[in-house]
Amino acid sequence: MEQPVQTETWKARSLEELIRILHQIFAEDKVSVDEVQALMESYESNPEEWLQYAKFDQYRYTRNLVDNGNGKFNLMILCWGEGHGSSIHDHTDSHCFMKILQGNLKETLFEWENQCAYINDSIGLHRVENISHTEPAVSLHLYSPPFDTCNTFDQRTGHKHKVTMTFYSQFGERTVCVSTR
Ligand code: SIN
Repeated sequence: MEQPVQTETWKARSLEELIRILHQIFAEDKVSVDEVQALMESYESNPEEWLQYAKFDQYRYTRNLVDNGNGKFNLMILCWGEGHGSSIHDHTDSHCFMKILQGNLKETLFEWENQCAYINDSIGLHRVENISHTEPAVSLHLYSPPFDTCNTFDQRTGHKHKVTMTFYSQFGERTVCVSTR
C-alpha cells in the first residue's frame, strides 16, 4: 500500500456502498492508507445494515467475515461482549483499519506507542478490549492483505505464540466447526 498521486474523496452512504467502493479502491495497483481510512470514517454506522453479521458468543469476542475483497482485503465485524478482549498481538505485516460501530473499545498499544485507528507492525502491537460491564461493542475491521495467523505475546514474559485466526461466521452464516477427533 502506498500513496498514489491523487486520492478521491469518497462518501459511503451504506455498508453496501462502502464495500463497493473498497473493491474499486483495491482494484488499483496502489492503495492509499489515508483514502481507505477516510472512506471507512465516512460510513455512518447503521445497525440495520450490519446486524446480520453481528453474531456474539457468550465467552469471547467473535470475528465475522463480511467480504473477502476479491483476495485483496478482509472486511469483518467483530463482536465484543462485556469484558471481552483480544490478546496482545501483531498484524502479520498487514494494514489494519478499525472502526467502532457500536459501544466503546479500549485500544492499548505496546512497545511502539502511537494513538490511532490504523495499525501495522511498524507501529506496534496492540490489544483491544470492551471494558464495559453493561454494554456490548461492535467494530468493523479491514485487513489488507488478508491473514489467518498472527503472533500473540505474553505481557509478562514477552513470549511469542503463533495462532490461527478463525471466523465465527462468514457472510452472515455461522461457520461450521469440523472436529478432526
Ligand atoms: C484486534 O485487533 O484486537 C482484533 C484482532 C482480530 O482480528 O481478531
